[in-house]
Amino acid sequence: MPKRKSRPQKRRRRSIIAFEMIRLDRTATEPLHEQLYRQIRDELKSGRFSDGSSRLPSSRTLAIDRGISRSTVRLALSKLHAEGYLLSKPGSGTFVANLLPETFLTADQPKTYQPIERPIRISDRVRAIPDGRVGNQFDLGATGAGPGISLVASIPAVDEFPIAVWERLRAQVLAKKGVNLLRYSSNRGDVDLRKAIAAYLCDFRAAHCHPDQIIVVAGMQQAMLISAMAVLNPGEVAWIEDPCYQQTRRVLSLAGVKIIPKPIDNQGIVIARSPKEPLPRMIYVTPSHQFPLGVTMTFQRRTALLDFARAHNAFIFEDDYDAEFRFVGPPLPSLQGIDNASRVIYAGTVSKILCPGLRLGYIVAPEQLIDSFVKIRSAMDQHSSPIDQATLARFITEGFFLSHIKRMRKIYAERRDFFIKQFNELLGDRFTLQVPEAGLNIVAWLKREEDFPMIKRITSDIGVRPSTLSFFCIQAKLKPAFVFGFAAWTPTQIRESLVKLASALSNRAKDLNHGRQSR
Ligand SMILES: Cc1ncc(COP(=O)(O)O)c(C=O)c1O
Repeated sequence: MPKRKSRPQKRRRRSIIAFEMIRLDRTATEPLHEQLYRQIRDELKSGRFSDGSSRLPSSRTLAIDRGISRSTVRLALSKLHAEGYLLSKPGSGTFVANLLPETFLTADQPKTYQPIERPIRISDRVRAIPDGRVGNQFDLGATGAGPGISLVASIPAVDEFPIAVWERLRAQVLAKKGVNLLRYSSNRGDVDLRKAIAAYLCDFRAAHCHPDQIIVVAGMQQAMLISAMAVLNPGEVAWIEDPCYQQTRRVLSLAGVKIIPKPIDNQGIVIARSPKEPLPRMIYVTPSHQFPLGVTMTFQRRTALLDFARAHNAFIFEDDYDAEFRFVGPPLPSLQGIDNASRVIYAGTVSKILCPGLRLGYIVAPEQLIDSFVKIRSAMDQHSSPIDQATLARFITEGFFLSHIKRMRKIYAERRDFFIKQFNELLGDRFTLQVPEAGLNIVAWLKREEDFPMIKRITSDIGVRPSTLSFFCIQAKLKPAFVFGFAAWTPTQIRESLVKLASALSNRAKDLNHGRQSR
């Protein structure tokens, strides 16, 4: 076999300056080194290479490239050096100067524009989003449940998430599917994941669905946004529960929807309406266990709601965010499972079952809405991470999902019982607990309403941070209460937090008494 001649490797060009653009005219009266100097200087003045990290090729390379002598190159470069366009770093080479001479020459020149004093124009859409930030808080995302902060509502025990298992499954799917997981993928979601979710929902949430109805989304919020955008025009009406999950209001506002808050009674959302009240196109509910009050929607109310939706051509958005964590009796079937008129848009999330950081959830779309939902998702952000989706599919099909739910239900049940017992012992004189059958939160009603401002201040000062119930209210005027989360803290941490709160409250009461007596 003839020996293959190895081609001389092209020297890798490390300079990013476009020396190809330099044109030297040997017939011109201007000397070559002047032409070279002028053209390099103009290139540098363009401002594209002024970050100090742009390296010039050596004078030898430049001379060979341009077919000129090295002394011509040296003359041009030394002039650029002298004028401050270039600098040498011993042992590294010649670089474009950080600050080119023009910066200094133009620094004091008067500006040619007037400073703009008008406020920046922001869209009505931004202003419509309710904003509960306090002070100069910038980010709305972080939950505030960092180190030293406890009993925050709705936080799952993420430290119990089986990271090692997840990592192993992730490595397996990457090894098996390789680059296929790095490409753009289906707007509906990973097919294995959709099959796994459909099977889980049919078996454990008594849903009626097939994998084609499943759309994998980036959590409940995105499920709401996609649904609202698909079924409501801006200005059309959606009913939401009052009090309500605060993000629902924000998402629907983003979709330009007119929100009508509906009260909650002991059966769930109140359907009755005044004759003047506009009919809703969508009704948002949390039937498994209302957020934040914890009411489980009765069967009677469920059928009434379905009848209402059918009669008025409305859709029901069923937010089934943490039905897996029911501590009294067997899990209740979903509303979707008893809907025989394709009125229910069911949505679930892994935020409570696994962890919120994954940003994964799912919609079970009525057949007639599948295409519209997928169309919106494709225009929004296309799809969730294929790697996470494939890993979750394995996590479910290999049984880790169910075993995690089972394990967490046990942990949460223990923490819940412990919280109730300790709370009643330490704080029972000030609060009445309303213990729900499910979920990760408990509402504590104040026995003396006048204590509210003081307790609010103290919880914020000591880092035991239940939410005020009023935070979730729109028009509802409920008695003062706090929503405590218990799930993310160990019994020791729960006890410490409750002792801290009880002693801060009794110290405050002593101070007040003392103040009164010494007056
Ligand atoms: C009622 C309700 N729905 C959904 C969620 C979770 O939504 P996501 O999947 O967007 O994290 C929460 C979280 O607290 C919630 O309280």
